[in-house]
Amino acid sequence: MSDYKKNILITGGAGFIGSHVVRLFVKKYPEYLIVNLDKLTYAGNLANLSDIEGSPNYEFIKGDINDSAFIDKVFSERNFDAVIHLAAESHVDRSITEPLAFVMTNVLGTVNLLNASLKIWNKGSMNDSGKLFYHVSTDEVYGTLGSEGYFTEKTPYDPHSPYSASKAASDHFVRAYHDTYGLPTVISNCSNNYGSHQFPEKLIPLCIHNIKHNFALPVYGKGENIRDWLFVEDHASAIDLLFHKANAGSTYNVGGNNEWKNIDLVKLLCKIMDRKLGRPEGTSSKLITFVKDRAGHDMRYAIDCSLIQKDFAWAPSVSFEEGLDKTVDWYLGNDEWLKKVVSGDYIHYYEQQYSQR
Ligand code: NAD
Ligand code: TYD
Repeated sequence: MSDYKKNILITGGAGFIGSHVVRLFVKKYPEYLIVNLDKLTYAGNLANLSDIEGSPNYEFIKGDINDSAFIDKVFSERNFDAVIHLAAESHVDRSITEPLAFVMTNVLGTVNLLNASLKIWNKGSMNDSGKLFYHVSTDEVYGTLGSEGYFTEKTPYDPHSPYSASKAASDHFVRAYHDTYGLPTVISNCSNNYGSHQFPEKLIPLCIHNIKHNFALPVYGKGENIRDWLFVEDHASAIDLLFHKANAGSTYNVGGNNEWKNIDLVKLLCKIMDRKLGRPEGTSSKLITFVKDRAGHDMRYAIDCSLIQKDFAWAPSVSFEEGLDKTVDWYLGNDEWLKKVVSGDYIHYYEQQYSQR
């Protein structure tokens, strides 16, 4: 028998947000055993967790959540008390070229984890035993906004991309397992994250990488789409809070109160990079290139996160200025990490995504 107070499975812990969540839990809760299960796709990288690798309360299992027999076996052997589910295919552009991969991991993989949780937790009483299936999701399930308004927890789902459709489906399954089988679940829907260790297919790290190498900065359409940006460590702290405090069956929105038009954000990154690289101001913005718009491109995401603020006094703690500064410094100081992830398959991906635009 384990001496740990809780035995927690975190899926997708080698990815961008997952690695921050794993790090927070391993360091903050030595009384918990944290098991990170990750397939190590192109987006998963154990180098993201090198600083906690040897921690006594941390274990890594390489595996695929789509493989139900494997997942059932791991659950019955490990008897987890809780699951924090982050494993996913997470990039909208990839979902447009390869939607089935998103159905498999985001929908089927999630249902495999729900089934496995139900099997081991049904044996006892689920409600009074601190069991919890925490599902990490996105604000993209709500669709798109015009210039007014915000997504609340009551906004009807209206996904437009294969990515957001697959995440919406997974959220519905999680709620269905709560409502139908009494599985204790919590869902959080968060806005765009940024910070260290993000794969350079997403806007901010892609721009940092391209500015550094004097490559074009591909801005989709007119660059007028708006996203709400949250520093990844603030997202991890919201997950920590909700994991410990939210009631079973609840849903919370998490956001940064920090809306930016893409073009303004790219210009800001150019300015920061010029300063950090000692280039004359205006050098990097010459790299901005307007390219063909993303198909089905949602215009604006904006989150009303007053519920988590009211219930648990959570608010973002890192300003965008500070968060971007830290993020740029991390990428500039981790050249080897960046070089490694942009070699191999990435080159093929980049050509495929951007040569036609
Ligand atoms: P990511 O792409 O950086 O990481 C995903 C991780 O999941 C990788 O480590 C990958 O190896 C792993 N994985 C993928 N398929 C798997 C499979 N079949 N089995 C096991 N592991 C698998 O993603 P991220 O940006 O860290 O996002 C994590 C979660 O947060 C996702 O569920 C995403 O939908 C959600 N989310 C992301 C954002 C954002 O801005 N990035 C915002 C809100 C919510
Ligand atoms: P992204 O980081 O892919 O996140 P998401 O699509 O989940 O919001 O994109 C953020 C915004 O930036 C989105 O409106 C699309 C846009 N974008 C570009 O203009 N150029 C790019 O090369 C990328 C990757 C994104």
